[in-house]
Amino acid sequence: MSTQEKTLVPGLAGIPASESAVSYIDGQAGVLEYRGYPIADLAANSTFEEVVFLLWNGRLPKSAELAELRASLVAKRSLAPEILEIIKLLPAGGHPMDALQTTVSLLGMHNPKARDFKDADVAQDICLELVAVLPTLVAAFDRSRRGLEIIQPDPDLDTAANFLWMINGEKPEEIAARTLDVALILHADHTMNASTFTARVVASAEADPYSVISAAVGTLSGPLHGGANERVLDSLAEIPSAEAVPTWLDAKFAAGGKVMGFGHRVYSVKDPRAHNLQGLVHQVFEKLGSTPIYDVALALETEMAERVGHKGIWPNVDFFSGIVYQKLGIATDLFTPVFAISRVSGWLAHWQEQMKDNKLFRPGQIYVGTHGHEYVPIDER
Ligand code: COA
Repeated sequence: MSTQEKTLVPGLAGIPASESAVSYIDGQAGVLEYRGYPIADLAANSTFEEVVFLLWNGRLPKSAELAELRASLVAKRSLAPEILEIIKLLPAGGHPMDALQTTVSLLGMHNPKARDFKDADVAQDICLELVAVLPTLVAAFDRSRRGLEIIQPDPDLDTAANFLWMINGEKPEEIAARTLDVALILHADHTMNASTFTARVVASAEADPYSVISAAVGTLSGPLHGGANERVLDSLAEIPSAEAVPTWLDAKFAAGGKVMGFGHRVYSVKDPRAHNLQGLVHQVFEKLGSTPIYDVALALETEMAERVGHKGIWPNVDFFSGIVYQKLGIATDLFTPVFAISRVSGWLAHWQEQMKDNKLFRPGQIYVGTHGHEYVPIDER
């Protein structure tokens, strides 16, 4: 086919980039499945650790297998003293996603076997290390930038509860730990999104898994991808009360602006992850006490349903995740890192899949430049 006959699909929207058996979305029906299991079932009954096993093995674990996975993750959570020292030197004003990207890369430099990932045991070790240690990296940077003592992981706590412990220095209430656990389940994979595509492209070059994950973290940091939940809270903070929602929305729509936390490229019905998170959000606020921002959010949801529900614009997962993370004591700029500590499991499932049947990504382009220029020496230009 000549260049002229090729048609560009901006953003490769809807163009399959690979085959995958990890997750599945039906945007019209509001379906999200991991390895064939509906997300609602997993959110209601599973744990993040079990979902990690599911994503990597294609089936749910037996008790002994889950116990083994948990123990391996616990064993790999701590950071080497040299890495902790470097974290303390990172600029306190830097974004935690940049700190995460840098420190994931650092882990790779620290592992002499990083490039031996074609050995199945090494690959398994690196995958476990990355899932185990990302929460510790995020929490260590957060404590260090606040001038607080870095808290060691607690081997008795699972990923979600341990993360809250390492951030806040207090053992979380059960409802708080379970809510974060569900949020981690809901964010673990989402088909061929931008960061997962990044992970597969980097994997296809046979770069090591630390490079795969640090590149994916970089992509996730963008406001068009993982950064939306931070912006939901910024919007909610602009609205002084629930009563002020209609006037705020009038001004927003008059200016042609979009309301953060609503709408989705793939879903034209309510994001199934928002459904699941919403129930928990209600429970969290009931048990731990409401905040004005929550009342504003509920009023905004109702008003948006009336105004744009008919266009298929409904709350997405980011609308509720930011509100609930704030209530759990997580700083706004840690929302995207929290997304990353979950999604790393999905990125690695895609890395494993890519490695099983690898072909280097090398897409084409449509050249829109010019031809035939003659080189002019610099002093004659
Ligand atoms: N607030 C208000 N109106 C919205 C809206 C929002 N968040 N999202 C879409 N709409 C409106 C559009 O203005 C458009 O109206 P029109 O038909 O009268 O022109 C209609 O709904 C369709 O919008 P469109 O831009 O085609 O939807 P999309 O599928 O291309 O966009 C998003 C999806 C996610 C890019 C978009 O909804 C958005 O920017 N949302 C806010 C950011 C966000 O929360 N991102 C996180 C996604 S997980």
